[in-house]
Amino acid sequence: MIRVLFVCLGNICRSPMAEYVFKDLVRKENLSNKFEIASAATSSEEIGNGMHYGTKRKLNELGIKYEKHIARKITKEDYKKYNYIIGMEESNIRAIKRIVGEDKENKIFRLLDFSKSPRDIADPWYTGNFDKTYVDILEGLKAFLNFLKEKSKL
Ligand code: 4NP
Repeated sequence: MIRVLFVCLGNICRSPMAEYVFKDLVRKENLSNKFEIASAATSSEEIGNGMHYGTKRKLNELGIKYEKHIARKITKEDYKKYNYIIGMEESNIRAIKRIVGEDKENKIFRLLDFSKSPRDIADPWYTGNFDKTYVDILEGLKAFLNFLKEKSKL
């Protein structure tokens, strides 16, 4: 089982989008039984809240299924449980390490560092542009899945 936790600041926009798009990608490749996939926040700002309307609208537009989402904050236990802890931007990586401590097992990654053009995922919070966020996330997730296929012989 490969356990993957996607992480952003609030766990209402980017990381739930990554969670549900990745679940959809692995479902389409009949790999769902090999994965446990979830998402979490680094801040307490949105804890208990549902997904942002912009993320839900984008997932609906794409016909991607999602469950009732409740934002939660990453914990030290998550570091033990998950094999890959994937932040959306550089500041997420620093915030994750502040919460879980040193990345002794090399589990913490920035999503687009798996791609050919390493960068932060576009943040829709101030722009309202969830289309750009989705394009970035899909690029990162496809690159991540390819990485796993090579590494873990999926
Ligand atoms: P997310 O988006 O980190 O992609 O879920 C944000 C959510 C909340 C805030 C910023 C970004 N905020 O400032 O509260």
